[in-house]
Amino acid sequence: MKLITTLILLSAATAATANPFPNGDAQTGQKLFEQYNCNRCHAKLMGGDGNAIFTRADRKVHNAAELLVQLVACSGNIGTTLTPQEKQHLGAYLNRFYNLK
Ligand code: HEC
Repeated sequence: MKLITTLILLSAATAATANPFPNGDAQTGQKLFEQYNCNRCHAKLMGGDGNAIFTRADRKVHNAAELLVQLVACSGNIGTTLTPQEKQHLGAYLNRFYNLK
């Protein structure tokens, strides 16, 4: 019984901290975001620093897969091909806004 309780608690803890970008580092992602000047278009669209695009009511991204698709689309806009590792870093950073599980 104790073992079962422990297992349930453990899996609950894992679910609560589930991270869709386990190989990404948010700080590195933020640096890449600034380096690529990602918000240049978002700022024109949304005003301010542009970050409002990630929290707008009709936002495009609702899960990690959609975020990856958008990263590819946006980096295509600027003629960049993000490496899988860069996508993980950017995903980890942007998940500060999205809180995707
Ligand atoms: C050339 C302009 C441009 C650049 C540069 C750009 N984006 Fe975007 N981005 C857009 C536009 C336009 C949208 C809104 C797309 C839509 O509404 O269909 C968008 C939307 C997004 C979204 C989705 C927001 C939502 O609704 O949930 C993400 C995430 C995103 N961009 C990430 C990035 C990242 C990361 C970079 C830098 C690598 C970047 N963008 C660079 C134009 C750009």
